[in-house]
Amino acid sequence: MKKQTLPNTKPIMGEIIKKWEECEDTFGFLIKIPAKVKSAKPGQFIMLWVPGIDEYPIGIAGYADDILEIGVSRMGEGTAAMIEKNVGEKVGIRGFYGKPFKSPENVNHLIIGGGFGMTPLKLLTQSLLDKSERSIHIFEGARSKNRLMYLEFFQELHNDKKLVFHVCTDDGSYGYKGFPTVALEEFIQNSETPSVIYAAGPERMMKVIFDIGKKYENVIDMQMSFADRYMRCGFGLCSYCAVDPTGWRICVDGPIFNAEQIKQIEDFGNYRRIETGEKQRI
Ligand SMILES: Cc1cc2nc3c(=O)[nH]c(=O)nc-3n(C[C@H](O)[C@H](O)[C@H](O)COP(=O)(O)OP(=O)(O)OC[C@H]3O[C@@H](n4cnc5c(N)ncnc54)[C@H](O)[C@@H]3O)c2cc1C
Ligand code: FES
Repeated sequence: MKKQTLPNTKPIMGEIIKKWEECEDTFGFLIKIPAKVKSAKPGQFIMLWVPGIDEYPIGIAGYADDILEIGVSRMGEGTAAMIEKNVGEKVGIRGFYGKPFKSPENVNHLIIGGGFGMTPLKLLTQSLLDKSERSIHIFEGARSKNRLMYLEFFQELHNDKKLVFHVCTDDGSYGYKGFPTVALEEFIQNSETPSVIYAAGPERMMKVIFDIGKKYENVIDMQMSFADRYMRCGFGLCSYCAVDPTGWRICVDGPIFNAEQIKQIEDFGNYRRIETGEKQRI
């Protein structure tokens, strides 16, 4: 019989049943686990254990019954070891951890991100499509076309007229030439409808988005995923992920924070902790 939830402190083993190259240096995986995963919410994360190598946080891109979808970008040894894994091999999973995105009623949804930040944004998009009547705009940015994550997924939804996909590349190899933050600001300037911004990506990009959002009254909230941060336990024990001066631990108090909370986090866009616990300028 399948368990209803995933364990929080010890990993359970799941089997990779599908693997594909999502874009350069990033692979998608479907993992079958002995638990139902319907309780996963957009913005939450799992701790992924690659046996013999490392354990680290990874966002949830999608799920169906006992199958979990994740996307892994190559960073260092741990993520490279996952990318080397093939169908039939097993990895450990615990979770789900963290606070999810909250989507209010009667607002336009402006979703912006880049890199592996697109992982939770894919699940968020799916959930908004299922439950919200309001318009959804996705702003995705990458250095070039070959680094755009979920390009086909968002393009298909755009072609179906279910949402508007504003795709941006720094080098102009696909879509709008320039940063997605510029496209986002142009959109907000020309819209009077109350909107919520949901963001996930490199923290420097999120800081720019936050500064843009603060300028416009029609932006009624911003919710951002603090995934550009180091974590160890994932469930509040070690304080590796704490931010100053609030002391909030990203893994239990986040990783999603709203505009009011972000204003209080002085570390945001300025400092993050590295593996030794020391602070480093972003
Ligand atoms: C809540 C959360 C959700 C995440 N979701 C995803 C996801 O869906 N897909 C994905 O590919 N990655 C995700 N990450 C990032 C992932 O956990 C790190 O890239 C991974 O831990 C790096 O491990 P490594 O052994 O490959 O690299 P390491 O050898 O540990 O580090 C290599 C380099 O990457 C840097 N690094 C370490 N952790 C992070 C981080 N969190 N963000 C940016 N740089 C980092 C290090 O400082 C170092 O410079 C998420 C992180 C968090 C906190
Ligand atoms: S990662 Fe240990 S407290 Fe957050």
